[in-house]
Amino acid sequence: MKLRPDTGLSFDDVLLVPKRSTARSRKDVSTRTRLAAGIELAIPVISANMDTVTESRMAIAMAQQGGLGILHRFMTLERLVELVRRVKRAENGVVETPVTLPLAASVDQARQKMVEAEVGGLMVTDEHGVLLGVVTTRDVLLAPDGAAPVSSVMTPRERMVVGQSHASMEQARAALHEHRVEKLPLVDEQGCLVGLITTQDIVKIQKHPFATKDGRGRLMVGVALGVRPEDMARAAACVEAGADVLVVDIAHGHSNHTLEMVARLKKAFPAVPLIAGNVATAPGVRDLAAAGADAVKVGVGSGSICITRVVTGFGVPQLSAISDCAEAGHALNIPIVADGGVRNSGDLTKALAAGAATAMIGSMLAGTDESPGAPIVRDGRRFKVVRGMASLTANIDRRAIDQGQVADEEWADVVPEGVEAMVPYRGAVSDILHQLVGGLRSGLSYAGAKDIVDLWEKAEFIRITSGGLRESAAHDVITG
Ligand code: XMP
Repeated sequence: MKLRPDTGLSFDDVLLVPKRSTARSRKDVSTRTRLAAGIELAIPVISANMDTVTESRMAIAMAQQGGLGILHRFMTLERLVELVRRVKRAENGVVETPVTLPLAASVDQARQKMVEAEVGGLMVTDEHGVLLGVVTTRDVLLAPDGAAPVSSVMTPRERMVVGQSHASMEQARAALHEHRVEKLPLVDEQGCLVGLITTQDIVKIQKHPFATKDGRGRLMVGVALGVRPEDMARAAACVEAGADVLVVDIAHGHSNHTLEMVARLKKAFPAVPLIAGNVATAPGVRDLAAAGADAVKVGVGSGSICITRVVTGFGVPQLSAISDCAEAGHALNIPIVADGGVRNSGDLTKALAAGAATAMIGSMLAGTDESPGAPIVRDGRRFKVVRGMASLTANIDRRAIDQGQVADEEWADVVPEGVEAMVPYRGAVSDILHQLVGGLRSGLSYAGAKDIVDLWEKAEFIRITSGGLRESAAHDVITG
């Protein structure tokens, strides 16, 4: 038996000591950071790969705000690939493969394809890809005869506004505005459809100037993976669909099977940034980095819905875990993702000040419009459900996906390390991020730091007592 001489600290055990600041406004500081090799984020927040937090809606919102969403892994491969595709389709510079329909298709087929592909317009092409017309929702909505050919309702090529294949965004914007149309198909010299620029996409680009995008102007997205043999095929399918980051997410990430999986993934997909975890110690970071991880996720039992520490007795208070892991990570140029336990912007600032480059957040985002599921009402107030991925129901649902059905005795077999819970409904994720990042900006200026790397240098923590903690929150007043 060995007892470490230091005390494990968490967010509530410390405060950051104010330093002289040169910033005149919160706008003078930068929240830009590095998630992993090759991926920069405008804000240091990623959404947790939990089935009550991140599916495509959350991933789209996170990337639009300059963060990133990591899709959870507890679904079929087909669904996971479809969610990756949805994120990649959500915003485009140029849509490189517009959804098309043959001339012989019926009005009903056009309706069905619009629903399936979640688009409001289809390009009608011949067998050589030559553009023949466009059919939009308005053309089919009230069309009386569903069996009629699509040619009877479409706008034919000669009445369409089209752009040349090499049209710039500015030329496209001007053409869309001049003709007051919403879609500008791009054609080559043979008249073949080679792309599409939409008004919606241009508006989105203007609305989200700091969005996290790939080289083709599409939003970025990450996917979580396990360590089972089939996870290699899942990774391949997700990368093929456009996933930008792979995240090996195992409760005890400092384990041989995780290290082997990380090495296999890095070998198979050397160009795709790879995050691995979770660990809570410097040796964990070093081993994952040596196996091929480009960033390491830190947090064992720190999450709001985790009971790992209660069930197993293991864990390291999160501030100490981040600090130890960051020391190892910085020496290896491996960014640290602080995962779990962030309840407000103060915790976010402390996690970053302790050396993390980004924070992964679960429950705080679970109550938003963009998390999966609908709000429920209790005593006149709205809530959303959040559950640990190692909770009883998550375990059973996972088995149901894998096996098709779950025998009654399997329920008793589960030893949960997470709980099911509710969080208050909180509206749009953009509002939560605005508050989080606004608080972080203030935090940077209190530290006299111009950005997150500077914060690592300048941060000075002071331990506090229960008296200090009580003084830190609103006190001796009646709060609503
Ligand atoms: P927050 O505090 O942001 O934490 O809600 C999210 C993180 O919690 C982890 N997580 C779990 N940990 N049992 C655990 O011990 C679980 O069932 C569980 N589910 C999620 C995970 O790291 C997530 O990002």
